[in-house]
Amino acid sequence: MKIAIRYYSKFGHSAQMAQVIGDVMGVKPESIETPLTEEVDILFVGAGLFLGKVNGGIKDFARSLNPQKVKKVVCFGSSAIVNSPVPQLRSIFEDLGFSVATESFSCHGSMGPIYGGHPNADDLQSLREFVSRNYK
Ligand SMILES: Cc1cc2nc3c(=O)[nH]c(=O)nc-3n(C[C@H](O)[C@H](O)[C@H](O)COP(=O)(O)O)c2cc1C
Repeated sequence: MKIAIRYYSKFGHSAQMAQVIGDVMGVKPESIETPLTEEVDILFVGAGLFLGKVNGGIKDFARSLNPQKVKKVVCFGSSAIVNSPVPQLRSIFEDLGFSVATESFSCHGSMGPIYGGHPNADDLQSLREFVSRNYK
């Protein structure tokens, strides 16, 4: 199975999460600055939220892809105020015609002292289990 992992990460949280996914799947994660040119079975896409929004670069990255060449998108991310960035990630990709997996992974991501230390070791272990259970 061909797998790719892309993320936008301002404070390194999504990058840490991408690294865990990469460890499980045996793939090197890259930021959304790295174009995805080959066909993939699964594309993991992750980000946090800033002032209520995922970074606009995610939409630009999604637009750079051909939905016919990405069988399934799996969303992940972290946030501190709302539950999850995943609904925004999901609608960006669904609106462009991608098939987005029902299952996704979200956890807390620190905003200063709010949820300080997250994603923590437990969060990353839960992510590891999520990926192993669903995609390995
Ligand atoms: C300046 C700033 C603004 C943020 N705004 C939000 C927000 O509007 N909603 C939310 O749920 N989390 C918010 N957060 C929390 C981030 O989404 C959280 O830190 C996330 O883990 C960042 O992921 P990243 O390091 O991969 O970019 C904010 C954090 C900072 C530092």
